[in-house]
Amino acid sequence: MSKVPWIPSPKIVVEYIKHALGVTRSDVVMDLGCGDGRVLIDFAKAGVSVVCIEIDRVLCNVTEIVFELYGVKDRLKLICNDFFRVNFAEIMPRPTIVYAYLYSSILEMLSPKLETELGFGTIIVTLDFPIRGWSPVFAKHLVDESNYDRVLWIYINGISNPSARIAKGTTVDINDVINQCLRSGRRLFLF
Ligand SMILES: C[S@@+](CC[C@H](N)C(=O)[O-])C[C@H]1O[C@@H](n2cnc3c(N)ncnc32)[C@H](O)[C@@H]1O
Repeated sequence: MSKVPWIPSPKIVVEYIKHALGVTRSDVVMDLGCGDGRVLIDFAKAGVSVVCIEIDRVLCNVTEIVFELYGVKDRLKLICNDFFRVNFAEIMPRPTIVYAYLYSSILEMLSPKLETELGFGTIIVTLDFPIRGWSPVFAKHLVDESNYDRVLWIYINGISNPSARIAKGTTVDINDVINQCLRSGRRLFLF
């Protein structure tokens, strides 16, 4: 399997997600391949619970130290493992927002797990690489600190995934999914 190297996300990504997705303390944000935890630390500092899955032992250790230094280790669930070996449905409390900065080929392999193991209405955000076969509800163009063009792809499990499209009009009511997100207190500010 091709390995995804560690390339950190730019800070602007966290800022956009925080505001556009109306992240609150009742959210649980998970980063699939969290690197040194830099995406998650900002959420934890804002009082949000986070889940970090990372295969690289050194990066896991760095993440743990960073959370400790900021005094927010109690908000971190750290799973130092291959995300293909983790059953996302067993992670409690359940992630409400999932972030992944991974190649499209890896996202494609992960997508059956995302579809079946994440809750209905879970928001999935990917950076630069879209999930093949899924329909984003929104794509946001950003320019990062180094003046590079970046794209955030935003998906909702139950709307964006392939089986949702097959079931459209029969078993999945898109309004129900959106209302479910909003019932959880979420207001989307996609702009
Ligand atoms: C592009 S980096 C993104 C790091 C971090 N999410 C960020 O945005 O700053 C991808 C990360 O995924 C991790 N990774 C790659 N394959 C993985 C796997 N199968 N299971 C868990 N982590 C993995 C890498 O070690 C690396 O830290």
